[in-house]
Amino acid sequence: MKTILLVNGPNLNLLGTREPDIYGRTTLPEIEAAVAEEARRLGLAIKAFQSNHEGGIIDFIQREYREAAGIIINPGALTHYAYSLRDCLAGVNIPIVEVHLSNIQKREEWRKKTVLTEVCTGLISGLGVKGYVMAVGYFTDDRGHG
Ligand code: DQA
Repeated sequence: MKTILLVNGPNLNLLGTREPDIYGRTTLPEIEAAVAEEARRLGLAIKAFQSNHEGGIIDFIQREYREAAGIIINPGALTHYAYSLRDCLAGVNIPIVEVHLSNIQKREEWRKKTVLTEVCTGLISGLGVKGYVMAVGYFTDDRGHG
């Protein structure tokens, strides 16, 4: 069975209580369960990881990517400046879907810049928890025109 890595960056462990007007009230364990459920439905497996540290995320991806069919990642604020994570993602030869709960293009100027999107396969931003669940569908065998 294909395994997809589900990676969440800094402060996403606080989902549920963190700025709920922006990020909603769903907790990270609830998101991970929803993603795992969708993966099961599609015949895929999920390996979930969260860290507040760029290096911890890089260590996890370096350790796991050879056995994985893809990555779903919400990098949190690392999105906007993390060049070590960028180089890590550029170096793995598996598809990567970047996910943001909020629409980062509708927010502060500094959030509109992402240093990661150009090394990801695609981006889902602003669709809340559904964005994570929709990302799973990308990793089924039928990738459409992607
Ligand atoms: C976020 C957007 C980032 O700008 C922010 O730093 C986050 C969450 C999102 O899911 O909308 O931590 O990635």
